[in-house]
Amino acid sequence: MTNGKKIIRADETGQNSRANPYPGDVRVYGDAGQLARAAAELFVNTAADSIEARGRFWVALSGGTTPRRLYKLLATSAFSSRVDWGRICIFWGDERYVAVDDPDSNYRMTDEALLQHVPIPFMNVYRVPTEIDPAQAAAAYEHEIRHCFRVFDSVPQFDLIYLGLGTNGHTASLFPRSPAMKETSRLVLADFVAEVSSWWITMSTSLLNRGRTVAFLITGQEKADVLREVLLGPRDPARLPAQLIAPEGALLWMVDEAAAGMLSRSEERRSA
Ligand code: 6PG
Repeated sequence: MTNGKKIIRADETGQNSRANPYPGDVRVYGDAGQLARAAAELFVNTAADSIEARGRFWVALSGGTTPRRLYKLLATSAFSSRVDWGRICIFWGDERYVAVDDPDSNYRMTDEALLQHVPIPFMNVYRVPTEIDPAQAAAAYEHEIRHCFRVFDSVPQFDLIYLGLGTNGHTASLFPRSPAMKETSRLVLADFVAEVSSWWITMSTSLLNRGRTVAFLITGQEKADVLREVLLGPRDPARLPAQLIAPEGALLWMVDEAAAGMLSRSEERRSA
C-alpha cells in the first residue's frame, strides 16, 4: 500500500501479545485522502485477484461517513476503469433499518457516491430489504447471500469486507453488550440497538470472520482512544465488539495519523 507506515503486527510486539494478542496489521496513512486511495487500490487489486481465481469478486461494504471518500474515488475513471464491474457482487456489512431513500441509509450513500457512476449490473447489487419487517429483512438478506454464493451448508466467504469503528467500539452493527455478538448460526441479524433507539441489520461475526480480507477504515482524532483500546487494551469484546473481528484471512487496520494518535510512536515502523 502506498505510504502506509507499517505498525508492526500486533502479535509481534511484547506489549500487544501480553495485553491483547490481537491479530492484524496496522497501517498508518498521512490523512484520510491517502487512506482512501490505499483502500481503493485494495479494492481494485483484490477484485482482480478474486476474479482471476474464482471468476467473481464478492465484497461487503461498510456504512457511516468514513467510506464515502473511498466510494467517490472508486467512481473516478482512474479506479473505475480498472474494475470488471460485471463480475462484482456488492453487499453491505450492515444497514440501518430505514427507507432506501433515507439520508441515513448506507445503500443511499453508496448509490450516490459510487453505484450511479459505474457500470455495475443492477442485479449485482444486493441491498438490505428494509421495506419489510427487520427480522424478515435479516432472513431475506441471509437467503440472498447464500444463493449468490450458492453456499447453503457452511459460511460463505467474502473476498473483501470493509468495516468501520464507532467511538463506542462497535463495528458493523455489533454494538456493545448486544446479544447479536453471541450469534453463532445465523449469518445476518436484526438488532434493536437501545443506544440509538433503532433497528439495525448486521452481518454476524461468523460471516465477517470468514472474510479472506477484512479491512477497517478508521479516520479522525475522535477514534484515537477507542482504536488504542481495541488494539492494545485488555480483551473485552462485550464492551468493544470490534475485538471480535479476527478473520480467517488478512486483517488490516487502515488508519490515518489522527486516528493513530494514541498508538505510541515506538510501535510504528516504516514499511519495508
Ligand atoms: C454504520 C456502520 C458503522 C460505522 C461506524 C463508523 O452503518 O454506521 O456500518 O459500523 O462503520 O459507526 O462510522 P463513521 O465512519 O461514520 O465514523
